[in-house]
Amino acid sequence: MIGTGYVGLVSGVCFSDLGNDVICVDKDLNKINGLKKGIIPIYEPGLDELVKKNYKSGRLRFTTDLSDAIKKSNIIFICVGTPTKKNSNAADLNQVFSVAGEISHNIKNFKIIVTKSTVPVTTGDKIEKILIRKVLKKNFSVVSNPEFLREGEAIRDFNFPDRIVIGTSDKKANKLMKSLYSPLLSKGAEYLNTSRRGAELIKYASNAFLATKITFINELANLAEKIDVNIEDISIGMGLDKRIGGRFLRAGPAYGGSCFPKDTRAIVDTAKQFKTDLSIIRNVIKSNENRSKVLLNRVSKILKNKIRNKKVTFLGVTFKANTDDMRESSSLTMIPSLAKKGANIRYYDPSGYKKDFDKIKNVTFCENIKMACLNADLIIIHTEWNDFKSLNFKSLSKKKSLIVYDMRNILSHEKMKRENIKYFSIGK
Ligand code: UDX
Repeated sequence: MIGTGYVGLVSGVCFSDLGNDVICVDKDLNKINGLKKGIIPIYEPGLDELVKKNYKSGRLRFTTDLSDAIKKSNIIFICVGTPTKKNSNAADLNQVFSVAGEISHNIKNFKIIVTKSTVPVTTGDKIEKILIRKVLKKNFSVVSNPEFLREGEAIRDFNFPDRIVIGTSDKKANKLMKSLYSPLLSKGAEYLNTSRRGAELIKYASNAFLATKITFINELANLAEKIDVNIEDISIGMGLDKRIGGRFLRAGPAYGGSCFPKDTRAIVDTAKQFKTDLSIIRNVIKSNENRSKVLLNRVSKILKNKIRNKKVTFLGVTFKANTDDMRESSSLTMIPSLAKKGANIRYYDPSGYKKDFDKIKNVTFCENIKMACLNADLIIIHTEWNDFKSLNFKSLSKKKSLIVYDMRNILSHEKMKRENIKYFSIGK
């Protein structure tokens, strides 16, 4: 596994847990030394136990020596980052291509090179071109095998995937990949062998479609608020139609994270290169970018446009629960905007303090929920951590006129009403 970021580390550890010998490589020596001592660079429930268990058994190794790891492996997974390029929507593939170059110098016998990083369509073709310069054609096969892991659920998602997608027209490579995944297939996962370009596109299409579903329900929530309809009933009513399905129809803040924003932008960019306009996805991106503004307008309305000196508490700032990831979290837009308007912001997140707000005036991290909520005028539930689902807000804030704005619809309207708390939620 080349790259011990989210995808590489989780997949590597899980493959070793299935009984394979796995070498995880990273050029960051500190990370590798940390991993050898059981220090996990990312927050993922259950990952540290699995790392320790498999490292102890000797099936899982960590190294910075890329060429040695390549020589010792039959299957090489490229799991390096593919961030959005600066001043562009395209994915930056520098790391992928530089790894492909390294691989090409170290192949003497047949190896499968698999892209697990999310890479634009035709990246596999480009990797093949790099390899063919140094390696005999019969000694390698480039395969696409996208991952569909969700942060916070990654180990479960790895072990119980809906599907395994393998993009290759090489029968030998397909057979080896199928045998690698056979323990998961015997548990019921579907196996799809398609073209390499097809597999690359499936990944982007899946993420873009899920992002579209969320954005769709978020826009409908705006309407529901105006016509006195409960958006949750709409999600349930729609989701019961098996053609639609109920998942990813939870209205809330703008979607964030390391994948949806990046991948929607990248697929639009790829399509543009092939002179195709993906207008639906383009508009999803636009609508999502506007989402924080919509919710901020509601905050202004809730506070009757008097934001200055108001004590506003954010419960949860990560882009979703069970992760410490702040990438593209809507709190990064909302908190600075409210702070700029003069609100005093305190925040608490179970995953701890965030340096992202360091330079913003009037924003303070609190060590616990109690400190964050004391004397708050408005409590905003931004992330759906379990920790926030059964709180007694009245006794936490002590303010008579406390307002709660639940951006994740995790609280009961009736309960809030009984407790005499002014309660606002999404799409209701
Ligand atoms: C996503 C994909 O689900 C995963 O398959 C892919 O490999 C990586 O990207 P992740 O970013 O970890 O995973 O989170 P996910 O649980 O999909 O949520 C993404 C965003 O959508 C979050 O901001 C979340 O809060 C939001 N979301 C999700 C909603 O607003 N409503 C929903 O119903 C579901």
